[in-house]
Amino acid sequence: MKCEVCSKTISSKDYIKHLYECHPQSYEPLLEKIINLNNDGLSISEIAESLNRTKKFISDNLDLVMESDGAYKVNKPLNIKEWEPKNFTLEATTVWSFKDRGSWATHNGKYRGNWSPYIPRNLILRYTKEGDTVLDPFLGSGTTLVETKLLKRKGIGIDINPNAIKIAEENLRFNKNNDYHPIIRNLDSRNLNIIEDNSIDLICAHPPYANIIKYSDDIEGDLSLLDIDDFLIEISKVAKELFRVLKKDKYCAVLIGDTRRKKHMIPLGFEVMQRFLQAGFVLKETIIKEQHNCQETGFWYKRSIEYNFLLIAHEYLFIFRKP
Ligand SMILES: C[S@@+](CC[C@H](N)C(=O)[O-])C[C@H]1O[C@@H](n2cnc3c(N)ncnc32)[C@H](O)[C@@H]1O
Repeated sequence: MKCEVCSKTISSKDYIKHLYECHPQSYEPLLEKIINLNNDGLSISEIAESLNRTKKFISDNLDLVMESDGAYKVNKPLNIKEWEPKNFTLEATTVWSFKDRGSWATHNGKYRGNWSPYIPRNLILRYTKEGDTVLDPFLGSGTTLVETKLLKRKGIGIDINPNAIKIAEENLRFNKNNDYHPIIRNLDSRNLNIIEDNSIDLICAHPPYANIIKYSDDIEGDLSLLDIDDFLIEISKVAKELFRVLKKDKYCAVLIGDTRRKKHMIPLGFEVMQRFLQAGFVLKETIIKEQHNCQETGFWYKRSIEYNFLLIAHEYLFIFRKP
């Protein structure tokens, strides 16, 4: 068929892709029209008819998802501009700092408290090889599993919040290395009985920490709702499960920060490290991860001067080994 904008001959299958790449001004309105008609309840055949196209044209070009009532919904294509970070090099020291958090593939900072994709990328590349199995027991928006899919590792992601599962699934809806599309489950990481003993090559864990960001209002077992003492009791149960599922001599990485109560520092990071050592792990590395969300002006800056305390600007990334 001929492109209506540049008259170039292109296969019907690549028409919308061609508009996206060569004529973005025509791509968005056409896509919007299709999605609006679909939201208005028109079937794919009706949409095709109203746009003077064949039904095959729509199904060849757009991602169609069958809903529970049997009708097809049009999924907006993901506009991915880069699949990889530019000029990536592995971190080589015990201080990690990512000023630009990374926005390749579907990565974005929308999920509160999600980690920079540079963290799982470094861990996966340093500690695993292609085809290995990587577990993220606190999946959130799926940052780790986007990286396992891009880097051809088998990913398993667990989160207690069904909303996180939905967001992660959306972020993983890209067509690249589909043989490595991960397994995602809405479960509690204190009980990983779907995973066999000694079966995982790397764990990338980013637990919520004690009451700082609440990920739900009342989900039973959501560790983000617990105060420090209860959090430490429950994280011990997670540490035991992670120890059980990891293969011998493999690594488990945990990102965790400290907090303040009544103007004093609570060494939550070290407390969590102790719980992992008690579960049987040995400490391989302690990495300081710099945080870039602390402003040198504004409300918290003024308070830090007025009330004489320092703003926390780092977290710990502990790397444990199962001996
Ligand atoms: C700090 S976020 C993880 C963010 C993730 N690294 C990302 O980049 O999107 C912590 C996650 O742990 C989940 N969570 C809390 N308690 C849990 C539990 N008991 N089992 C599994 N997931 C849990 C929360 O729902 C939240 O999504």
